[in-house]
Amino acid sequence: MNVSKVLNIILALALVALGVQLNIKSNNTENKQLEKQSQTIDFSKGELKNIGKKFSFIPTPVVVAGTKVDNKINWITFSNVGYMGMKNIFVGSQKRHYSNIGIKENMTISINMVTESILDKADYVGMVSGKEVDKSKVFDHFSGDLIGAPMIKNAPIAMECKVVKILDVGNYDYFVLEVVNTYANDQIIDSKSKIDFNKFSPIFFEMNSMKYIKTGKPVGAGFQEGRKYKK
Ligand SMILES: Cc1cc2nc3c(=O)[nH]c(=O)nc-3n(C[C@H](O)[C@H](O)[C@H](O)COP(=O)(O)O)c2cc1C
Repeated sequence: MNVSKVLNIILALALVALGVQLNIKSNNTENKQLEKQSQTIDFSKGELKNIGKKFSFIPTPVVVAGTKVDNKINWITFSNVGYMGMKNIFVGSQKRHYSNIGIKENMTISINMVTESILDKADYVGMVSGKEVDKSKVFDHFSGDLIGAPMIKNAPIAMECKVVKILDVGNYDYFVLEVVNTYANDQIIDSKSKIDFNKFSPIFFEMNSMKYIKTGKPVGAGFQEGRKYKK
């Protein structure tokens, strides 16, 4: 290899490194600007306008569910997810989805939380159907006690769940779930197995803008902030 070739390679590597640096810097600046902007808005100065019957801007957690259809693993993304009372969680899944076949077949499912490191895969399994594409190898997985509920190794938190009820709501099957076991990455739990949400940022989805959002830093303590309020 002659000297000019070596110099060209060094120059190319330097440009790539500079590009990465600039990208990181611009993301950081963008985040800081957003943070500053939301802190400086004085909501008491604005007016609340009626913008119609909208609700889809409420961000909800993104989870990837693990299922097995005909004994083959299939992954699906849900943001229609939440608590039902203090004992159950639910996912709302359109009846046409391939995953519903497996969920009903086994009456089990896994619910895996999503962080930035697996966001590309989480988005992908929400874009393509197991009817057409084999999604079984997208995530490294492990099994727990239940059959039909494969869990994601790289998820911060994975839960294996039993389906205890199916609600028929229009185009959707609402699966009411009971968590059988929760697996949390040992880097995010303390000695009492308490999950520390300061250590990672779960991803939320906001349907209106189709954007993923990650949780930020805690700003208050539940059932404590209210003490500051003076009537
Ligand atoms: C961020 C995101 C959130 C989604 N949330 C839901 C949801 O809550 N309910 C639903 O039925 N589909 C939801 N989807 C769509 C399904 O994940 C998608 O149609 C998937 O390909 C179905 O896979 P399957 O046919 O293999 O079961 C979501 C997709 C994305 C990307």
